[in-house]
Amino acid sequence: KEAKVTIDRDFSIAETDPRLFGAFVEHLGRCVYGGLYEPGHPNADERGFRKDVLELVRELGPTIIRYPGGNFVSGYNWEDGVGPVENRPRRLDLAWMSTEPNTFGTNEFMDWCRAAGVEPMMAVNLGTRGPDDARRLLEYCNFPGGTELSDLRRAHGWEKPHNVKFWCLGNEMDGPWQMETKTAWEYGRIASEAAKLMKWIDPTIELAACGSSSRNMPTFGTWEDTVLDHSFDHVEYISLHTYLNNYADDTPAFLASPDLMDSFIEEVVAIADAVAARRRSAKRIMLSFDEWNVWYRTRRKNEGRVKLGWPVAPQILEEIYNMQDALAFGGACISLLNHADRVKSACLAQLVNAIAPIMTETGGPAWRQTIFYPFKDMSTLGRGTVLQTKVNSPTYETTYYDPRGTSDLRFPISEVPYLKLSVVYNHDENCITIFALNRSLDATLSMEALVRGFEGLAVKEAHQLRNDDLMAVNTKDSPDTVTPAPLEGVEIWGEQVRAKLAPASWNVIRLA
Ligand code: AHR
Repeated sequence: KEAKVTIDRDFSIAETDPRLFGAFVEHLGRCVYGGLYEPGHPNADERGFRKDVLELVRELGPTIIRYPGGNFVSGYNWEDGVGPVENRPRRLDLAWMSTEPNTFGTNEFMDWCRAAGVEPMMAVNLGTRGPDDARRLLEYCNFPGGTELSDLRRAHGWEKPHNVKFWCLGNEMDGPWQMETKTAWEYGRIASEAAKLMKWIDPTIELAACGSSSRNMPTFGTWEDTVLDHSFDHVEYISLHTYLNNYADDTPAFLASPDLMDSFIEEVVAIADAVAARRRSAKRIMLSFDEWNVWYRTRRKNEGRVKLGWPVAPQILEEIYNMQDALAFGGACISLLNHADRVKSACLAQLVNAIAPIMTETGGPAWRQTIFYPFKDMSTLGRGTVLQTKVNSPTYETTYYDPRGTSDLRFPISEVPYLKLSVVYNHDENCITIFALNRSLDATLSMEALVRGFEGLAVKEAHQLRNDDLMAVNTKDSPDTVTPAPLEGVEIWGEQVRAKLAPASWNVIRLA
């Protein structure tokens, strides 16, 4: 198969926002406890932070981390997680049917973010709580001192304010699984009142309202419209969530599914801009794709999601990612990059153990899952200006199965290009990075890219992620089964770049 690509230095989409490369830490299973925090582990520092995990996080390169949930936040009392650890209550967490020991909370998270070199993104509880609680948490976190709550933070040992800039107004409030689900009208009202109070305390913060918890929600579209009607003047972002699946065991459809993320993004942009148009407003609501990943094996049925007996940090949502998951995941990275003009923030859900690129054994080692690699490529090499690309590739037709509750929803996807691609130009390094996914399962794709406006290009580095076995996984005992290898044979002739992309492969080519 052959594909032709045209790229021009003068035709760009947008600069990638550093927050596009975020991730997510929820009090869920072993993400926090036994994941990034494990006092007594041989690799833990004096605060209980696992240094081996921190090292992998730094290598992965997320820029901002959303916390503390997720579904968890809709029942969370933030006060439970601050102050002397011995006084903190154990509570039932109804999101994941677990016992929350509260030995890790807001201040520990801030310290962990500093250790990892990432920005914190906080979510407030708009489920069981509301605007008043949101303003209290913000005062605790961001107000310098001289009030009850800011002085409480200081008394707890954090003299300086945490200065959290990015806040999520609740989580998935459209979902019946959420504690205190709301209608769009109810949520829109509460979100805009919370936003008002929060910005009166700290006008420098940025706020994201909850969009639909997936594109296949029955209320998708009207939800965004109503929520933004209420909150348009008070928020900067609307959120999107997507978990790609291969329930149908249909690899071509699975690999095409990131194209539905493209549609989802473009649809949310259209709705947000329609709300702006009704107001004759020049303001543009940006998108925060604050949960995205592949997730299905441990998702639909309760087995694996909930362990009986209210355990602490149960092994739930421990999805083991294989080679084909990494390909679909890479496709999602390309979808995000190619919408850098409107998607200004995004969080890989999640970071450690629970649907995560990093796995640990409690008391044991930490290792990289297959999806670690495309994310690392995107976060480390995707900084700069995303260029427009004209891709001329053979295509295929498929139907993606995306169940919702008991409904079997199917989405036809037509003219899926075998080649999915994004190109980022880094001005400072004078370097172009091509991220290319070959979705053909049996054919090598000869890619010929015309790269206009750049002189004297040479291959700086090229690598590929592939494995003959699409089911191959990395485990504690064989952590390097799926790892990137050099991509040989990239040729440059003037402005032409030629490469042969192996069947079912993720490829990264850097030219300078
Ligand atoms: O990331 C796992 C869960 O998925 C989150 O808690 C929730 O927001 C979503 O449904």
